[in-house]
Amino acid sequence: MLGLFKAYLNANLPQVQSFHPFFNEALAKMLKAGGKHFRAQLLLSVVNAKQPALVERALKIALAIELIHTYSLIHDDLPAMDNADFRRGELTLHKAYDETTAILVGDALNTEAFLLLSEAEFEDELKIKLVKSLAFNAGLKGMVIGQAMDCFFEDKKLDLQELEFLHTHKTAKLIAASLQMGALICKLDTKECEELYTLGLDIGLLFQINDDILDATSTKELAGKPTNHDTHKNSFVNLLSLEGALKAKDELSTKCFTSFQTLDKNLALSLKTLVQTYL
Ligand code: IPE
Ligand code: IPE
Ligand code: MG
Ligand code: MG
Ligand code: MG
Repeated sequence: MLGLFKAYLNANLPQVQSFHPFFNEALAKMLKAGGKHFRAQLLLSVVNAKQPALVERALKIALAIELIHTYSLIHDDLPAMDNADFRRGELTLHKAYDETTAILVGDALNTEAFLLLSEAEFEDELKIKLVKSLAFNAGLKGMVIGQAMDCFFEDKKLDLQELEFLHTHKTAKLIAASLQMGALICKLDTKECEELYTLGLDIGLLFQINDDILDATSTKELAGKPTNHDTHKNSFVNLLSLEGALKAKDELSTKCFTSFQTLDKNLALSLKTLVQTYL
């Protein structure tokens, strides 16, 4: 799935015709820089396990999620947010170009994602469900309010329940939407869609706990982004200590693996592999 998605991404980089000297280059820079494509792989894993004939058409939907995620990183790195110089092993857009370009590339990727959904080869009723899932989880009631809280509460210590709320919104909801959108494409019944969404929230929280741990333990070279950057943030490591964060990761990971047992064999295997590879 990863090879297939990367080839699709590189063949379908967003572009615009204009006489701007470098906007297309800036638009493609972070997408070409790589990243794990974790969310796209989650969506494609569901489709591949449940309706393999739909994988080809689902690539556009996976790309839409990758565009939203990449926009969120470009904005997350801006001086007004996390002020990071480095991302996916390259200079961030506001460093390589300027803040105006970084803001507008983010805006473009965000809106382009919904254009892709509207153009997908699925029936309108399904496309509306996909738009709703992505907009709900990436937008106001998901990632946006999560990022707003992350920034507002810098230097103000939250309790564990509040931090889980923050992390669930800023990260877990988009990850849960990736599984949910895969389930919608395959027309799984409501119960199965809900179960995958709930599992996605756990995987997503696990993902952000792991990201907090990497900030404290990894290097800029390995992570492709600045580390030791969360010292003034509400992170699992700052709240619970590294040892406590590792324990929380372990417990949540066990919970996810227990949930995998309730899924059918193919899907369980690919989700397990993704979680083991990246978390
Ligand atoms: C980083 O996401 C931001 C978080 C939500 C933790 P990823 O770790 O998925 O970043 P890429 O896409 O691999 O660069
Ligand atoms: C970002 O979380 C989550 C987003 C929604 C972009 P972080 O700020 O921890 O992500 P990194 O560590 O910069 O990748
Ligand atoms: Mg951040
Ligand atoms: Mg950041
Ligand atoms: Mg982080």
